[in-house]
Amino acid sequence: MPKTLIEPFRIKSVEPIRMTTRAERIELLEAAKLNVFKLRAEDVLIDWLTDSGTGAMSSRQWGAIMEGDESYAGARSFYRLEGVIQNITGMRFFVPTHQGRAAEKVLFTAVCKKGDVVPNNSHFDTTRANLEYLGIEALDLVIGEGLQPATIHPFKGNIDLQRVEALLKDRGAQIPFGMLTVTNNSGGGQPVSMANIRAYAGLLKKYGKPFIMDVCRFSENAMFIKMRESGYANTPIKTIVQEMFSYADGATMSAKKDGMVNIGGFIVLRSEEWMDAVRNVLIMTEGFPTYGGLAGRDLEALAIGLEEGMQEDYLRYRLRTAEYLGERLEAAGVDFVKPTGGHAVYIDARTVLPNMPMQHYPAWALCNALYLEGGIRGVEIGSVMFGKRLPNGTETYHSMELVRLAFPRRMYTQSHFDYAGEVIAEVKEKADSIRGVKITKQSQFLRHFTCECAWV
Ligand code: F0G
Repeated sequence: MPKTLIEPFRIKSVEPIRMTTRAERIELLEAAKLNVFKLRAEDVLIDWLTDSGTGAMSSRQWGAIMEGDESYAGARSFYRLEGVIQNITGMRFFVPTHQGRAAEKVLFTAVCKKGDVVPNNSHFDTTRANLEYLGIEALDLVIGEGLQPATIHPFKGNIDLQRVEALLKDRGAQIPFGMLTVTNNSGGGQPVSMANIRAYAGLLKKYGKPFIMDVCRFSENAMFIKMRESGYANTPIKTIVQEMFSYADGATMSAKKDGMVNIGGFIVLRSEEWMDAVRNVLIMTEGFPTYGGLAGRDLEALAIGLEEGMQEDYLRYRLRTAEYLGERLEAAGVDFVKPTGGHAVYIDARTVLPNMPMQHYPAWALCNALYLEGGIRGVEIGSVMFGKRLPNGTETYHSMELVRLAFPRRMYTQSHFDYAGEVIAEVKEKADSIRGVKITKQSQFLRHFTCECAWV
């Protein structure tokens, strides 16, 4: 057997990307206030800002788009997608939303109250923001290994069950439900084991609390279970997925990831109990429950994308892609969260810039350096994203300083990854010349999206 794992597709439609010079990139980044979110995408060569909504759809999905039923109420496309989601999740009550954060907003508004506390392995930034905005505490309880980039563990996304139980005992009355993010995006795209899902569900059940999963990347998580957890090597992905869902009472999903679409999300629940409240908020903010902020064509593309995202040859290639870039970084002596995650590689900026003080935001600085060196756009997952400026002017810092390179699905080929490996190695060589930043303007929530910076 040849050992190269190829892209399991061929390219039917192409989109040109554009090289820029280093001098141009310096000007462009300065005009963007040293915040890569403010760059124009056409000025980026390899856009690994996010794997969310950026992937390539298949010819089958594009074909299905023509079949979209755009009726306001009761569209055929809704029922088709509902059938697919009921089959995958084993849950009956489904509403679409325009994306993941809308699903969060609708669910939290419908069922949580001020003063509540929600445990999770790690809340994604929008999940945390949507909870905090409602006066709810978002508590991250990932296992210790999940916070140590260099520690190898097969399931670094697992939640710490002892801390969960302590919380259930101490503050049970304040907990509306427990959450679990698969894969654990903020913690390095790391998977959660089936054993951990099962045990967490059992604990929540013991204390009478529902279990809600954030399932943006459920297929990638299932593939990790197949590859790493004993007893699953010969289990079909869909069966693994169905078992994962069997332990949950509900889920929120950003379909822009493993749904293989450019826009979409949903809430799915096992019981009807919360559905009246969910539908009321949904109608106010997203739309009628059979379209929830999406067009009929989006529902069609998602119905196909959910199934395509569970194909094993695709998932094997997908996880191998991240691992391949990891091998290139290893060779260049650049540290990253190990093992590599499903959708992304997370560079440990503190090992590239060991001497840069935290107040100069090392991960943000590295992110800027990758753009300047090779036109690559990643995203900082560090103290700009998760730190806070306190009213007294001091800052809190995040426990990790990472740069995430997240890979759009079915979009970049092996040579793009080889190029990126070379750029990162160059940046590491020149680490001494990388400049830190200070924040000159910021908002109270999710400041990384819009903040303005200057060189220090
Ligand atoms: N939950 C997780 C784990 C996510 O990764 C995201 C989005 C969301 C919820 C929100 O979904 O974007 O559709 O509203 N993550 C993207 C990212 C934005 O780049 O990781 P959304």
